[in-house]
Amino acid sequence: MPTPTAFYKSQDKDFTLIQGDCVELLNSFDFKFDMIFADPPYHLSNGGISIQSGVPVSVNKGKWDKSQGFEEDYKFDKTWLAACREHLKSDGTIWVSGTYHNIFSVARCLTELDFKILNCITWVKTNPPPNLSCRYFTYSAEYILWARKEQKVGHYYNYELMKEINGGTQMRDVWTLPAIAPWEKSCGKHPTQKPLCVLSRIIQASTKPGAWILDPFTGSSTTGIAATLLGRRFLGIDQEEKFLEMSRARREELNSYNRRGELLEKLEKQAKLFRDSDIRVLGEPQAYYGPELPF
Ligand SMILES: C[S@@+](CC[C@H](N)C(=O)[O-])C[C@H]1O[C@@H](n2cnc3c(N)ncnc32)[C@H](O)[C@@H]1O
Repeated sequence: MPTPTAFYKSQDKDFTLIQGDCVELLNSFDFKFDMIFADPPYHLSNGGISIQSGVPVSVNKGKWDKSQGFEEDYKFDKTWLAACREHLKSDGTIWVSGTYHNIFSVARCLTELDFKILNCITWVKTNPPPNLSCRYFTYSAEYILWARKEQKVGHYYNYELMKEINGGTQMRDVWTLPAIAPWEKSCGKHPTQKPLCVLSRIIQASTKPGAWILDPFTGSSTTGIAATLLGRRFLGIDQEEKFLEMSRARREELNSYNRRGELLEKLEKQAKLFRDSDIRVLGEPQAYYGPELPF
């Protein structure tokens, strides 16, 4: 496969999108990232019902999220995680989000591929949708595995900043943060858009400004938007054009200085609401992170 062409590149070259299957695309170029965040298909679009704004809705997110059975889903996870591993620097880390539908498969694959799992974050949502059946507990959490590439090469963790954000005590592996808010959907709706507050914390915990971040299942590019707001560089991959268009629109919004300020302010307010003292942009260590993408 030839080197990919960018679907979109921001003027400052810090935010690039490419379209296609992430495994095929990752196998077509050679570039190493400092951090990867992946929000892969959870394989839970199998006909269930949930509630949105008080109205029953199908949980089906799209064809891409349908389960092909445990073995096939596991093979899929193993293939994309192996491709991601090839694109991590030796001191790089990967974060993968999920629910019980996929997270155990991901944990098994990470271990088999010789990653070292560092944490399993439980993200407790402050505003989960109610359980319709009333026959079991309300789903109110997602899990985010954090792993480093090499068993014996150290990784970056901004311990001090996390502690400060947590009011002066060590940040724990249970994060109480809200689900997506309406102000984050100004450029359209992605069925599984992640909130900026979760991605901001992940990025600040595990990278320095200037770092290169990859999201192989970028959707509406929450990872990339948080990366731009925090001064990191970003490559996002998705197979669906409509999601890449949404990503482009979200990035172009940030060309407005006012919109950037507005988003940072919202993030700060949101974080304060949940007892985090700051979404810090200043005061982080600076580092040199190498050249530009080859496309
Ligand atoms: C869970 S969503 C990611 C949402 C994203 N975190 C956000 O905040 O908008 C997963 C995305 O992966 C894309 N996708 C699924 N399989 C893919 C594949 N093999 N290669 C590239 N993209 C894929 C889907 O189109 C979908 O947009």
